[in-house]
Amino acid sequence: MDLGLTDKVVIVTGAGAGLGRAFSLAFAKAGARVAVADLNLEAAQETAGLIASAGGVAHALRVDVSNEGSTKAMADETQGALGAIDALVNNAGIYATLKRQPFFEITVEEWDRVMAVNLRGPFLCAKAAHPYLRLRRGKIVNVSSATVMSGSPLWMHYVASKGGVIAMTRVMARELGPENINVNALAPGFTLTDASLGMMENAASYGVERGAIKRAATPQDMVGAALWLCSPLSEFMTGQTLIIDGGRQFL
Ligand code: NAI
Repeated sequence: MDLGLTDKVVIVTGAGAGLGRAFSLAFAKAGARVAVADLNLEAAQETAGLIASAGGVAHALRVDVSNEGSTKAMADETQGALGAIDALVNNAGIYATLKRQPFFEITVEEWDRVMAVNLRGPFLCAKAAHPYLRLRRGKIVNVSSATVMSGSPLWMHYVASKGGVIAMTRVMARELGPENINVNALAPGFTLTDASLGMMENAASYGVERGAIKRAATPQDMVGAALWLCSPLSEFMTGQTLIIDGGRQFL
């Protein structure tokens, strides 16, 4: 099926690993040209190399999503190198490296670090891409987390940052709807990546018994929704959050 993504320009942040790499490869396979953006330029270049060797088009760049100047440079460089911005996937986040601890033990410095990347990050990236997105019936996909719905304990800064992402998605949808920009959120459940596999001993089977579908999620399970939310096929959907967790929880 043609998703209408051929030649579209998509920025994926946090594209050097995990979900971001899977999103980038899938967009390229669907015909899009991908700005592969990550704090780790080498990792971004590796993703871009994988895309190029599969015959796709990618432009690797370094971005720190928590820094306004850096996000502006990302948007301007993408426009310069690829000629447009049709979609932004706000995927970069601090996640698997976080220490699990009661909220009363989280330091203010740690709280601010998580908020700077996970919540300020998507705000700044959307702000930087907006002047270009508004010219193209643009799409924004914000990666949240199913931990918001479960109230997953011991990382309140993370869960609160991802709750903020859902709230921000709704406001952006209302403010940008009149400009024909769609803004939606994805809320993945626990997903196996190189990073998340190192989070706990039983990561590969974590939470599987609670799902309607009895297996662990992989990044590949998330890509279909991201592609669809950036395609013209989802044009009348905005402000929504899609939980993708194999049916562990229902809204
Ligand atoms: P990951 O740790 O494998 O990859 C994250 C990428 O973001 C890395 O390449 C890292 O270099 C980059 N990054 C970190 N800080 C950055 C910054 N300031 N600026 C630019 N790039 C930065 O993470 P994973 O698991 O692929 O997660 C991707 C997103 O999905 C995150 O937002 C995470 O919170 C969310 N998520 C992940 C789940 C999982 O189980 N893996 C479940 C629910 C949500």
